[in-house]
This record gives sequence, structure tokens and C-alpha cells, in this order.
Amino acid sequence: MTSTLQEGILVGCGNPLLDISAVVPLNFLQKYSMNEDDAILAEDRHMPIYGELVEGYQAEFLAGGSVQNSLRIAQWILRQPRVAVFFGCVGEDRYAGILKEKAQAAGLDVHYQVKRDVPTGTCAVLITGTHRSLCANLAAANNFTIDHLEEPSNKALVDNAQYYYISGFFLTVNPPSIMQVAATAHAKQRPFLMNLSAPFISQFYMAPLLAALPYVDIIFGNEAEAQAFAEAQQWPSGDLREIGKRLVAMEKKNPARPRIAILTQGCDPVLLIQQDSVQEFPVTKLAVHEIVDTNGAGDAFVGGFLSQFVQGKSLDVCIRCGNYAAGHIIKNPGCTYSGEPEFVE
Ligand code: AP5
Ligand code: NA
Repeated sequence: MTSTLQEGILVGCGNPLLDISAVVPLNFLQKYSMNEDDAILAEDRHMPIYGELVEGYQAEFLAGGSVQNSLRIAQWILRQPRVAVFFGCVGEDRYAGILKEKAQAAGLDVHYQVKRDVPTGTCAVLITGTHRSLCANLAAANNFTIDHLEEPSNKALVDNAQYYYISGFFLTVNPPSIMQVAATAHAKQRPFLMNLSAPFISQFYMAPLLAALPYVDIIFGNEAEAQAFAEAQQWPSGDLREIGKRLVAMEKKNPARPRIAILTQGCDPVLLIQQDSVQEFPVTKLAVHEIVDTNGAGDAFVGGFLSQFVQGKSLDVCIRCGNYAAGHIIKNPGCTYSGEPEFVE
């Protein structure tokens, strides 16, 4: 980092979740009718998962939650604390303490809404070989309300930021908060970034996603998420480039700043789609022995991207830093890093 950035230049909203991660046999997934690469919300029948992981599978506890992951990674790369502000809802318990401690250690400025009688959210990360299946029990995270953003000190943080990032996951929690942040970004002509987050968002939360999309300047997603969006829109082609072009062409509030789509595809090149152009950014493939787990790769990609975007760097630099950050996180358990960042423009 060369110059000092404004504190709180980046504001994010999401679900603060503690990940409970363990290697499990396939029949564990089968027992809960889950697939190897799912990302789902827990229903009543999934509730025993968390206890079982802790009691029988030597589960590890890791700070998670998609947006908080991305912001932690951005902070790590920036090496300047409090560039990013995070809003989300937690309970008043030990898990909330762990999340806050990890976030603050990374330099993140967290402003949790606290709900006394609800436990902090957790996400089961079920690892089977190179696959991971996620089952999020949002709990307190689901109780986020817009009045938290309307508290004067929090409102000031939102008003003073220059960049805004919210996950698609947050659409299941509080669309009015998303629309308020989006409207602020729009009124101040500041970039508003979102993520498709998981196929189930397009499948079941398309209405609030479509309401927010006109405000979105940059939309992130992976292959499966882009395909799910296209299917939900009944678009004829499953080709990622075509999907990207249609995504950027959808209605936009501020046509002077055309929408950009950034689609990741694992170890295949990242696609940058702007109006009619599609550019590819190669990914440095990791050797099998270097891979610990890919959990958090997509979130880390966004974190690396944001760390450069808030410095006004070109999209080319932002995407290369996204790939750098994702590659680093893959060599570490969950969405964690080790040592000092080594990204060079
Ligand atoms: P998870 O879905 O595991 O994390 P992710 O960040 O989305 O990572 P993925 O591994 O799914 O990556 P991707 O498919 O998005 O990206 P891609 O493979 O294209 O979820 C993690 C977190 O989600 C958890 O902490 C959990 O708490 C949270 N969560 C779950 N449910 C939630 C909810 N309801 N609300 C909030 N949070 C929730 O890869 C991206 C980039 O990685 C590539 O561009 C590349 O740079 C790199 N890369 C990928 N594969 C390779 C490779 N083999 N070699 C080199 N680089 C690679
Ligand atoms: Na990892």
C-alpha cells in the first residue's frame, strides 16, 4: 500500500457466521439429503448437524460469513486497519465474541447489531474429499433490521463510505437494508457491488435480487450461480459469456456507469464482462499437494478485488489481486490467511 486510505471507505453488510468445519463421510451428507457442493439454508431437519460435527468429527471453528470473509481478506492485503466497516447481526454469546475478535484482528471495523435471545449464526462446512457442502443456520444473522443502519453513528458510516458491498445471501435477511444502501450509493454516485452468492438465491429470491440489480455497478458470481440466474430468467443459453453479457445489459439506474460482471470459474480464467467485451484473466493452477481446501476461494477473490478497487486501481489489477488472494486462501484452511500478503501489481 502506498498512500493512506480514508477510514471506513468501504461498507459491507452480510451474515456474520461462525463456520463449523469437519471432514465427514458421504453417508453423513446422505443422512441429511445434502449434495457434495451444496450451499443451503438450514431447515429444522438440519439442526442436529452442528452438534454432531462438534461431538463426533473433531470440528474446527473458523470465522466465516461471506461478506465478513471478503472484508477480512481486503483488510489483510491493505495492511491499514479500519478501511472496511461491517454490519450484520449476532447474538450475545461466545461465538459472537470469536467472530468479533477475528474480524478486529484482521483490522475490520465491525458494528454488529446484537440480539440478546438468539444465538449467533453458524455454517456447517461438510468436507468430503475436495468438495464442501455448506448448511447455514442464520439464527441471529436473520434478525438484522434496518433501524440498525438508521442509528446516527451507523448512518454516518454509510453516508461517509465511497464503496458498498453486499452479498446475495443478505437478500434472504433484509432487502429493505440493501435497498437503502443501494439508494445511498446511487444518490452519491458511488459504486455498489453485489454477489450472486449461491444458486438458491436466484432460484428462490429472484424478486428482491431483481429489485436491487438496477443499482448494481459490479456483480460477482461463479459458474453455478450464473447458470442458476440464467435458468431462473429462462435465458436460452447456458454459455457463461452470453449470461454475462445479458447480466450487464439488464436495467440500470445509472446508465452513465455501465454494469460490469465478473464471473469466476474455479481454476479456469476469470471473465470480465463489460457491455460487448469479454476479457479473460488466467488463474495460476495450484498443484494438488498445495491445496488445503477451496472453502472461501470465491469470498477471497472478492476481498482481493476490493482491496485494489478502493484504491482506484484498474479492473485488471483488481482481478489479478482477486486471483492472488483466492490462491492464497486455498493453501490455508477455510477463509484464513497466513503471513504477510505478497501481491505485486
Ligand atoms: P464457499 O462457498 O466455500 O466459499 P466461496 O468463497 O464462495 O468459495 P468457493 O470455493 O465456493 O469458490 P467459488 O466457487 O465461489 O469460486 P471459484 O471456484 O470460481 O463459502 C464460504 C463461506 O460462505 C463460509 O465462510 C460461510 O460462512 C459462508 N456462507 C454460507 N452460507 C452463507 C449465508 N447464507 N450467508 C452468508 N454467508 C454464508 O474460485 C474463485 C477463485 O479462486 C478463482 O477465480 C481462482 O482465482 C481461485 N481458484 C479456485 N480454484 C482454484 C484452483 N484449483 N487453483 C488455483 N486457483 C483456484
Ligand atoms: Na481455504
